[in-house]
Amino acid sequence: MKFFVDTAEIDAIRELNDLGMVDGVTTNPSLIKKSGRDILEVTKEICDLVSGPVSAEVVATDSETMIAEGRKLAEIAPNIAVKLPLTWDGLKACKVLSGEGKMVNVTLCFSANQALLAAKAGATFISPFIGRLDDINIDGMDLIADIRTIYDNYGYETQILAASIRTVNHVLESARIGADVMTAPPEVIQKLAAHPLTDKGLETFLKDAASAGIKIV
Ligand code: E4P
Repeated sequence: MKFFVDTAEIDAIRELNDLGMVDGVTTNPSLIKKSGRDILEVTKEICDLVSGPVSAEVVATDSETMIAEGRKLAEIAPNIAVKLPLTWDGLKACKVLSGEGKMVNVTLCFSANQALLAAKAGATFISPFIGRLDDINIDGMDLIADIRTIYDNYGYETQILAASIRTVNHVLESARIGADVMTAPPEVIQKLAAHPLTDKGLETFLKDAASAGIKIV
């Protein structure tokens, strides 16, 4: 499973990237706002740091301006994935930009039918939002599973990018179902390492090491 980090914070990306945990980055206008940085400037910095796909989202709603914005974003670096919302205009822009050989991430996907349309429009990635479905009491995992089944039924190559991940269980379930990629905030990726039995076991080992006078360096 590929790990994308869902943030525009350079320090957090660098730390995870140095550990080999970053296969790509996803941003959106809210994350850019949170960073307090200029979109073109911060996105360029991320692209210089990470070799995998870096999603940068358009802000227009009509296909013509989305295409113009997508072309401008794609000029930042070869590893840009233009992020487009799953609207009819977004699908039109997806068809054009993917036809030009640009990576496209179709975002704000909340149904399997939407995901089917994105695959037909040539999307590189489809981003189903798990957490936001859970927020309204709909199981986001069912959506990941449905898209996996449909894409496998017909051999679509669009990669399922499990997004809006809020918990470590979202990561586990997405991996079980076979999402190609997951994107999560840095805090969630760090939490994947935590286990109370690891902490408890380590405490005992350290106590025994101290009482036995074990010293290595
Ligand atoms: C990623 O591409 C999405 O923009 C992100 O995962 C949304 O997450 P949120 O629902 O926690 O804002």
